[in-house]
Amino acid sequence: MKTLIKNATVVLPGETTQVDVVLERGTIADIGPAIQLAADEVIDAAGLHLLPGVVDDQVHFREPGLTHKEDLSFASRACAKGGVTTFLEMPNTIPNVTTQRLLEEKLALAATKSVVNYGFYIGATPENVQDLKTATRTPGIKIFLGSSTGDLLVDDQGALERIFAETTLPLTAHCEDELTVRRNRERLGETHDVADHSRIRNHEAAVVATRRAIDLAVRHQHRFHVLHVSTADECQLLAENHRLITGEACPHHLFFNTDDYARLGTLIQMNPSLKTADDNRAIWKALSDGRLQVIATDHAPHTLAEKQQPYPESPSGLPAVENSLALLLNEVNQGRCSLEQVVHWMCDAPARVWDLVGKGRIAKGYDADLVLVDLAKTQTIRNEQQLTKCGWSPWDGVELTGWPVRTWVMGKEVFREGEVDPTGRGHEAQFDHARGGYWATSD
Ligand code: DOR
Repeated sequence: MKTLIKNATVVLPGETTQVDVVLERGTIADIGPAIQLAADEVIDAAGLHLLPGVVDDQVHFREPGLTHKEDLSFASRACAKGGVTTFLEMPNTIPNVTTQRLLEEKLALAATKSVVNYGFYIGATPENVQDLKTATRTPGIKIFLGSSTGDLLVDDQGALERIFAETTLPLTAHCEDELTVRRNRERLGETHDVADHSRIRNHEAAVVATRRAIDLAVRHQHRFHVLHVSTADECQLLAENHRLITGEACPHHLFFNTDDYARLGTLIQMNPSLKTADDNRAIWKALSDGRLQVIATDHAPHTLAEKQQPYPESPSGLPAVENSLALLLNEVNQGRCSLEQVVHWMCDAPARVWDLVGKGRIAKGYDADLVLVDLAKTQTIRNEQQLTKCGWSPWDGVELTGWPVRTWVMGKEVFREGEVDPTGRGHEAQFDHARGGYWATSD
């Protein structure tokens, strides 16, 4: 099957220009002006923009064990709709993915269910350093330095030193300091005010843990990625990246802050917690000046009934994969950032951080993971139209301009005009860790 996409404005590495793109046998076979070719399908994409598919390196898809909230079929269809062609999923499912056997069981599940490409992290515990040392077929090791949803936690210094010293896979962490969180919770006492979530998981909790993780990475000279940065101070810590450390922002830390609890309550309860409007601005600034490299969602669905319990029974987490690209395209339309920056943060940079083979750019020989977007399309997010199993969005009622209209995964179209093809199947993402990550591959 040969597909010829004609007349789109294509975001190529280093240049955005109108060219034709040929997809064949799952890869980008050719790129050039006015390509003449007998294709099985010719798509006139005049007026639209062609981007590499989004690589979302932080999602929680809940399967196995928590499939009343989400599962790989629902979540991957939500990805296809949102222009996400590869996801990297976190290990806090039930059971936690802490061994090669459990990792491979998840890969086998995804092979039969996921309409987009997939990869799975292995989770660190204080006892499984041997499993972490020998793990394969994974982007890297996830450490919960502070506890969040589930019971994965490593905050013992000796255990952390061993993980940073003895493993070679890329490391990443949820950085909120467990002791600081506990101390804040005790000081505040019993509370049912969700705004206290940001006083319990406060600035200090995030900064202390991120500083601790960076110190470990630098001393052990170990590649490290800071997930979901929520404070201005962490952005400052990332200014000295030592060409070892990368950092990431999530849409909720860009678009929501503590002022929004009054309107949205526990729906926007997240870990790390939301911080202030000044932190929102600092995170945007850090993305623009390169202290943060990646935008990913931390898609963490819970049912509406679970979220609507009174704080603190309400769980932390919100869904985002099907709207994250549109949220950013809307910002392009508002003039806050460029389309090329969005492609860097959401496609190229995460592919490089995790050594993904063939992902993140539109270039000859790369995988044909693509999303066609209509920057002029205006649409309102509605809970009842969400494909995620939890069926709600914190952005319900928000009108955005700039939406994905077609998505291809390895050359096969999986989303078109509002419809996902549920028969589409993604492929297991391939990691070539010898590449050395983001800093080793920077332009
Ligand atoms: O709020 C969160 N929810 N943050 C996390 O890091 C985990 C996630 C979840 O799995 O629910």
